[in-house]
Formats: sequence, C-alpha cells, structure tokens
Amino acid sequence: MPTQPFPHGVQSGSFRIDPHDALPSTNDRARELAAEGAADVAVIADRQTAGRGRLDREWASPPGGIWLSLLVRPSLPVDRVSILTFAAALAVVRAAAEAGVEARLKWPNDVLITDDEEERKLAGILTESSTRDGRLQWAIIGIGVNANVDRDDLPPGSISLQDLVGGVDRTAVTEALVAAFDRLRGDQAGVIEAWRTHAVTLGRRVEITTGDGSITGVATDIDESGRLLVETETGVERVAVGDCRHLRSA
Ligand code: BTN
Repeated sequence: MPTQPFPHGVQSGSFRIDPHDALPSTNDRARELAAEGAADVAVIADRQTAGRGRLDREWASPPGGIWLSLLVRPSLPVDRVSILTFAAALAVVRAAAEAGVEARLKWPNDVLITDDEEERKLAGILTESSTRDGRLQWAIIGIGVNANVDRDDLPPGSISLQDLVGGVDRTAVTEALVAAFDRLRGDQAGVIEAWRTHAVTLGRRVEITTGDGSITGVATDIDESGRLLVETETGVERVAVGDCRHLRSA
C-alpha cells in the first residue's frame, strides 16, 4: 500500500506533481529533472532517507511529513534568489493557516511556532540554484514541513502540525502550499512586504554567523533582495547569507 497521497501524473496549478513513496532527497531528484530541462515540477516524497538541511545539516524526514521540492526557472538575477525562499516560507505560513495553525518566519528560511517562552521549528527551506551570466537558470526550493509526524521522531526544538491540531489532510496542505507559492513567486515586492508582516526576527537582537565571523545587533529590516539589516555598535550591516540566532534582549 503506497503511503504517498498523490497519484502519478497529477497537476497542482502550474506544477506537475512527481510523487514518490521514498527518495534519498527530493532536492536531488529535482536536480535530475533540472538536468533533463524540466520546469514547474513539484517532487514529493512520503519519506526521505538522506534529507538535507541548510549548512550540510541532516533533515529528519520520517513518513507523514511534507517533503517537497519545487523546480522553477524564474527570470531573476542571482542576488534575488532569496525571494524564492521567502515566497516558499510565506506559502507554508498560508497553508498552515488554512489548517488552523498560526506560524511565524525567522530569517532567512525557518517557519516557527512561537510563544513567549519558546520557538519551535515547523518547517525549513533549502534553496539550491544554477546560474549563468548573473541570472538564475533554475532553482530548486526544497520545503520540509513537519505535518503528520510525532514530535518524538523529530529533533529537539521541532514541532509538527499534528502536535498542534491533530492529523492534517496532507494533500490539501500541499496543494494550498503549492498554490500560494505559485501566486507569490512573480511578486517580488509583495513577497518582501508580506515577509515583514509575519517575521519574528525583525526588532530582535540577533547573532548572525557568516563565513567571515559573527555579527551581533538588532535586526531592523530586510532589503529588496532579502538581505537582513542588522544595527550593530559600529553601524548597519547587510547580511545576505548566515545562520541566525535570536538572542534574549539585554
Ligand atoms: C533547513 O531548515 O535546514 C532546511 C530544510 C529543508 C528540508 C527539505 S525536505 C525537502 C527537501 N529535500 C531535502 O533533502 N531537503 C529539503
């Protein structure tokens, strides 16, 4: 009995669904499709055996989650690739809202459930791309949503939709997510504006670890490319890539 809820050959809006019971990583399968020239494909697996997170971290992908990679070929300059990550994170927020869950965004790629006490990770995004002459040839937006997964099967600090509202209809959540991404992907200014309204990072003291060291200060905004503006003791830094930690206020 297949565990993957999508049948083969199904279309979800502009995306062709490529469904699998198990894959090492949906991003890797999407790379194969990119090499074949495909576009607007959503690769979905019920479980991943070698799911990957950002910064070469492992991504726990037990059965019941939404492990999804969107292969797209947008006409975007390289420095705007973050727009796609933000669009995906917003799409998760909108799909979660339809399932009765209010989620928030942490720069650059996390979808969190927050309360006064703690932040727990509901979903993460891993965007990979190929570029030529300063423009994107293709991008793969890998989206991992802890849907019908027991918190005990996830790393500490994680939470699932099932923990919050009981089991969800994964097909409905996935379709809502893909449709929201489809609407958002062409609207760069709208993505930035909407990201700001759902962000939990803005106004917070943060520590950003980059390849060159770390930056500590108050995150004040994002710019049109999705870079985080951090007010430090020595001035405002614009950070394009980094690992962000929310600090308790001094
Ligand atoms: C992160 O927060 O570090 C990003 C996690 C991204 C996980 C998703 S699950 C679907 C796709 N396939 C992968 O191997 N990773 C992404």
